[in-house]
Amino acid sequence: MWRSEPGQLHGLQDRCDHRLAPLSLGRCEGERLRCMYHGLLFEPDGRVVEIPV
Ligand code: FES
Repeated sequence: MWRSEPGQLHGLQDRCDHRLAPLSLGRCEGERLRCMYHGLLFEPDGRVVEIPV
């Protein structure tokens, strides 16, 4: 679970869809959550909206 910068509470499973890194080590970016392993960016509903190259 994380609280976004605007203050809303969101929840996802604590594993990234890519290599299962813990999203609890991620970083809030507005409403979104970034996995800090390879940088996938998740919407609060779990959709990936950015894959760094
Ligand atoms: S494990 Fe999360 S981006 Fe690769």
